[in-house]
Amino acid sequence: MNHQNLLSVTRELLKPSTRQGIVLLSARELDKMRQVGKLAANLLKHLEPMVQPGVSTKVLNDEAERWMQAHGAISATLGYAPPGYPPFTGSICTSVNEVVCHGIPNSKQILKDGDIINIDVTPILNGYHGDTSRTFIVGNPSAVARKLVAVTQESMMRGIAEIKPGARVGDIGAAIQEYAEANGFSVVRDMVGHGVGRQFHTEPQIPHYGKRGSGLKLRPGMVFTVEPMLNEGTYNLKFLTDGWTVVTKDKKLSAQFEHTVAVTEEGVEILTL
Ligand code: MF3
Ligand code: CO
Ligand code: CO
Repeated sequence: MNHQNLLSVTRELLKPSTRQGIVLLSARELDKMRQVGKLAANLLKHLEPMVQPGVSTKVLNDEAERWMQAHGAISATLGYAPPGYPPFTGSICTSVNEVVCHGIPNSKQILKDGDIINIDVTPILNGYHGDTSRTFIVGNPSAVARKLVAVTQESMMRGIAEIKPGARVGDIGAAIQEYAEANGFSVVRDMVGHGVGRQFHTEPQIPHYGKRGSGLKLRPGMVFTVEPMLNEGTYNLKFLTDGWTVVTKDKKLSAQFEHTVAVTEEGVEILTL
């Protein structure tokens, strides 16, 4: 799949939602999002000690699937098939080193000392989606890997800190991009944050780069993800032939963190802490 296609495929991912437009969640719905957000965060916490050299990404996947079932939730990713994509076969995404996102768990993929791995989980509980991810370091990675992971997490938090009623979507991207580039990393353009709630991927789109004061004005009740992907080298991407896995074009490292957040009257609430 070439770069041109990648852009349209990314739009496709958001297409089912465009029928609905931007949804403002009621207090009751926000409470459901809080519940599933907490569950998603707890799942990452549960998996964290398993992230060690020698474990396969399939073992992480299967434990996540078991845990979600045990907590009355189902995986939003398993069987997920937006237009133009084959059904996703994982209960979570596991994106190692140069994999930017949407890595498919595989019993032959064994974590080794020095790897970095993003684990992205999206349980559905009572009809609502909680979407969160973190990049874990395996054993003793290089200095640049550790810096990339730390800068990516901080860039996400700086993006989230911009969120309040009246702020603009561009303020989020600008804060992320400024911090990433000041630290010598690039921000992925072709993958964006997204509205989330009853649907997995809905409006609005949240780019992780941009200009302050531009874009959609934020309003209380909006719920969306902030999920910057930062690359060691170029921000350009490549799709693998499995139809899902996205890698850096130059095969250098990529890291990602993701929270689901709600715009509140006071500012912002992180639902996946
Ligand atoms: N959780 C991812 C996101 O942050 C989407 C994964 S879709 C999958 O939007 F099918 F690849 F799992
Ligand atoms: Co996610
Ligand atoms: Co997401």
